[in-house]
Amino acid sequence: MSYALAFTATEPAELWAEAAAAAEALVAGETDGIANMANVAALIWQAIPDLNWAGFYRFDGSELVLGPFQGKAACIRIPLGKGVCGAAAASRETQRVEDVHAFPGHIACDADSRSELVVPIVAAGRLVGVLDLDSPLPARFGAADQAGAEALIARIAAALAA
Ligand code: SME
Repeated sequence: MSYALAFTATEPAELWAEAAAAAEALVAGETDGIANMANVAALIWQAIPDLNWAGFYRFDGSELVLGPFQGKAACIRIPLGKGVCGAAAASRETQRVEDVHAFPGHIACDADSRSELVVPIVAAGRLVGVLDLDSPLPARFGAADQAGAEALIARIAAALAA
């Protein structure tokens, strides 16, 4: 099986649609959630431009724990409600932050990060974790990126939960 992926779209909505289709194909038939997170982190890192971190935090029942990712080594445990990731997990609502320096409690894992998009992962009513994307560009993530990332996660949430 080949995992050579090609992404050709230039508009964010189309790019996320391509990434979501590729992600769904990658996780199809695999029940190990950590393996699926690893491949999806790599896929997003390849498909989506201008990121300095892309990956997952997993909810262990009490806090977020670092999962598969691409980018620099990052903080390992994040309490619910802390930082951008903790806010997304606690509220179960996407956090799209144009300037992380202006976000109260932002956790600076990589000093290069200027903007951030965090999508909660919920499967069968249970919080699985979050998808965290960081960019060195201010206001990197627009509404189309948020909608695209949410749609991608919605399509594969069950495969990340296992
Ligand atoms: N900045 C995040 C922490 C995770 S790192 O960016 C990988 C936050 O405030 O939740």
